[in-house]
Amino acid sequence: MSQLNLEALFSDVARSMKPSPIRELVPYIKRPGMISFAGGNPDPMIFPIAEFAGSSIVLGKNGADVLQYGATDGYEPLKKFISGWMAPRMGRVTEPGELLITTGSQQGMDLLCAALINPGDMIITEEPTYPGAIHTMRNRGAGFITVPCDDDGMMVDLLPELIESARASGKKVKFIYSIVNFQNPAGCTLSLARRKKMLEIAAQYDLIIFEDDPYGHLRYDGSDIPTMFSMDRDGRVAYACSFSKILAPGARVAWITGHSDLVRKMVMVKQGVDMCTSVVAQALVAQYCMDGHLDGFLPKIVSHYRKKRDGMAEAFAKYLPKDISYKVPEGGFFFWLTVPGIDTEELFKKAVDRGVAFVHGRAFYANGGGENVLRTCFTFATSDDLEEGSRRLRDAIEDMRR
Ligand SMILES: Cc1ncc(COP(=O)(O)O)c(C=O)c1O
Repeated sequence: MSQLNLEALFSDVARSMKPSPIRELVPYIKRPGMISFAGGNPDPMIFPIAEFAGSSIVLGKNGADVLQYGATDGYEPLKKFISGWMAPRMGRVTEPGELLITTGSQQGMDLLCAALINPGDMIITEEPTYPGAIHTMRNRGAGFITVPCDDDGMMVDLLPELIESARASGKKVKFIYSIVNFQNPAGCTLSLARRKKMLEIAAQYDLIIFEDDPYGHLRYDGSDIPTMFSMDRDGRVAYACSFSKILAPGARVAWITGHSDLVRKMVMVKQGVDMCTSVVAQALVAQYCMDGHLDGFLPKIVSHYRKKRDGMAEAFAKYLPKDISYKVPEGGFFFWLTVPGIDTEELFKKAVDRGVAFVHGRAFYANGGGENVLRTCFTFATSDDLEEGSRRLRDAIEDMRR
């Protein structure tokens, strides 16, 4: 028998890959009695199971199409629904050629990178940002220019200097990645003034903007801010949204809207990846939406999650030491905590011993940092667990300070 040397056979990308920091937490989260504030999971108690099951009627009605291979750009009735439903946010009804259904927004991100990124190209991201984005972008060979956030989102005034200095060192900057509403993890929302400024800067330096918006429909206070897509006159904004947080992540159905030439390239990449997103999943989602359930469900989840957001805010105010700072988010799934003087990766170990899990800060920093910050998700835990988990988190912080 000859010896297999896989290390020598792996690609450079595979060799340098690191596992997803959040997926690595799963064994801890699954421990009996663990309260999880870690993954960004919707509340399973509120999944619209009966309504979604009712959508299976489409199999009887249209099974010959639904069980067949589908068009790579997506199942036509779903595309039609999305372009109509999203028109108020997009500023117009988008053309079919501008819309691609993806297997989760995660895939949209990957296809966009495949279409735009050569190894060594730079992507501008918020700091902190979504670890799944860092992972995908890194897999495609991108480097990161990271821009800090404040309460109004990415500090866009810093962009020109950062772009110019990257260019001066011979780097190509391709796109700006922004999670515009209730950012994952920081909870902030990009202000209208900064959206306009980002568009201006993208035009000045001829960049694409990737406007990632999985949480935009989950606003608990305040009013919506226009999307950059709706304000863009050049076709330089690619806007992604997903059914994961507003219906069910298990469906793995999302979409990306952008310039038809860019979408066409992403379609070609997708042809070589999965040919099409599961037509069965798309058809079930389409039927559910066309039956009016999405519009019926949204106000319910908004009010359900608002209560949970308030529950975590009250529990944190009651239990957490006063030097721990955070803002109550206006929407989305997350609180972002600064814990002065404590390494949150170490705190994580104490916390899981106490029976509560969160995601430590380093996971959200593409270029290093995040030692004293952590993310908690308020949607998944039960209301009682929001209180008990906060008490356990306080105990873990006290353990660290003893
Ligand atoms: C900011 C952001 N973008 C994209 C995704 C991926 O979502 P999907 O389930 O649609 O792949 C997530 C998931 O948590 C996210 O938080």
